[in-house]
Amino acid sequence: MATSYSHESIERLKDQIDIVDIVSNAISLKKTGANYKACCPFHGEKTPSFVVSPDKQIFKCFGCGVSGDAIEFVRKYYNLDFVEAIEKIAKDQGFTLERTKYDDSRDVYYRANKDAARYFVRCLLSSPNKAMDYLLERRKLSQEMITKFGIGYADEKWSSLYNHMKALGYEDDTLSELGLISIKGGKKYDRFRNRVIFPIISTSGKVIGFGGRALDEDGAKYINSPENPIFHKSNNLFALNFAREYLRKEDCLIVVEGYMDVIGLFQYGVGNVTATLGTALTENHGKILKRYARKVILSYDSDDAGRKAAYKGVDILRSAGVEVSVLHVDDGKDPDEYVKLHGKEGFLNLLSKSISGTDYQLRHIARGTNLQTEEGKIRYIRDIAPIFEKLSPVEREVYAQKVGRALRLDYNNILNQVGKERNNQRERSPQRSENKVSRELTATEKVLIKIIFMDSSYFVKLREHRFADAAVKTDLAREILNLIKDEFRDSDGFIDEQRIKDSMDPADGLKLDNIIRNVPVVDLEQTFRECMRTSGLNALLEQEKRLLDVIAIADEEEQGQEGEKLQLKLMNVQREIKNLRGGLGL
Ligand code: GTP
Ligand code: MN
Repeated sequence: MATSYSHESIERLKDQIDIVDIVSNAISLKKTGANYKACCPFHGEKTPSFVVSPDKQIFKCFGCGVSGDAIEFVRKYYNLDFVEAIEKIAKDQGFTLERTKYDDSRDVYYRANKDAARYFVRCLLSSPNKAMDYLLERRKLSQEMITKFGIGYADEKWSSLYNHMKALGYEDDTLSELGLISIKGGKKYDRFRNRVIFPIISTSGKVIGFGGRALDEDGAKYINSPENPIFHKSNNLFALNFAREYLRKEDCLIVVEGYMDVIGLFQYGVGNVTATLGTALTENHGKILKRYARKVILSYDSDDAGRKAAYKGVDILRSAGVEVSVLHVDDGKDPDEYVKLHGKEGFLNLLSKSISGTDYQLRHIARGTNLQTEEGKIRYIRDIAPIFEKLSPVEREVYAQKVGRALRLDYNNILNQVGKERNNQRERSPQRSENKVSRELTATEKVLIKIIFMDSSYFVKLREHRFADAAVKTDLAREILNLIKDEFRDSDGFIDEQRIKDSMDPADGLKLDNIIRNVPVVDLEQTFRECMRTSGLNALLEQEKRLLDVIAIADEEEQGQEGEKLQLKLMNVQREIKNLRGGLGL
């Protein structure tokens, strides 16, 4: 498998190494003035014309003409390719190179998960077992739902899955990264044991992870797959692949807490339902939900944790610009129990009684406050101020009236008061600015990516362009282009935006989303040319600078003839620069 190291990590390595150090590990150098000299190791000679410049971090032989930086020296001297050369340097220097996040190895993860999912299903269907009894008897699931959701069973033994996957040829590392096995003290064993298995399927139909529910009381109730290159909990929702189909008829999506809630509601014909993957709702979930539905109804468990999660969920969905309501389950602990007690009609009836997210938050705060007393009223208005902050002016007025009626106060006073409270609170808690490590794309990269998403033929144009390397510099851009390459290969030039975003780190996915939505490009061809022209120009300017460096050494070392050759090269580069500046040359 081809390995790719992160561009940033290679740059860091370059910054750390000293060419004199590296060359003198191979040949002995003699200091002459500002530079070091030796007989050239790349051609036979008696008088030294091989020069190493510590200032410019390059070597140059004025006999045979070879030149380059420290990595180039290692490549040539030890006869290695680029990757081998940086690996050798890193090893000698005790430096750890980081790999890029996305490469073609993702395919093997998808295949492994699919094979594991099949295995779990086969275990559930083979001979009588307690998982099947549990699903049918205790949870009253239908055979149809078990099949639809691909539910499986991980038995109690320690290496059933492991043996199966090894027989299929999967590596321990792959299985462990996917969280299918654990490795402790050299021992490998199945991570999911004695559990009902719910495969988690992306909207593009791939098995990206698993949730395993305990069959016995001991241990965690659920074990979920860990975050890994193909599984990002804040980028995916359970059963959204199925719920999507229902959204043609319904314009709202119900979000519940548990996998069993989703499946239970589905069984009763309520299909516009999804759940997070064992985490709280994130901003990113908000964005995803907004894409699929106009309105979201949060239907969490009726316990304290469920109420708190709903309160936060309202905030998140509101700031994602999704209309949000909350449904309170008033019988049974969760939607799954409720629908089993009252059927589809009962649940739909309850659904029609869901209240707006803001009402829910206002009521939630009222729960712990006695609104009959003066004190209570004052405290209440202080506590609801942050909610009002997030409302539009119209909503603010509507809810101020409501609160006014409930407290028997003039709503104008309430509006004034919540405004003041909010100002005070802001003064007391100054905004902290977070220092995030940035993986920023260059302006050119953003525009090029946008162009490719507008017209995929530009992917090929970019790849074949002589300035491609100059235009695509950052890791993130390379990673995105790699994902596009996979898409291209798999689907004949059609780039599925969602699929690419799904397989990215959430933060990176958001960046891509932002580019696709917000980078303005009108004339594709002209913009493309302009991007390539500037990139080429910058690369040539760098080349010019390098040549000027070498020429400076040649002058110091009085290398007349070689100096002339370099001058000639420089002229060529400068001519190209001139052409590009004039907008020609492409
Ligand atoms: P049932 O109790 O069988 O009805 O399960 P449920 O699917 O309704 O789950 P529950 O409401 O208890 O929890 C909601 C979700 O939180 C689950 O679907 C899991 O994703 C997650 N979860 C619950 N318990 C645990 C746990 O012990 N560990 C982890 N990591 N996640 C959990
Ligand atoms: Mn439940």
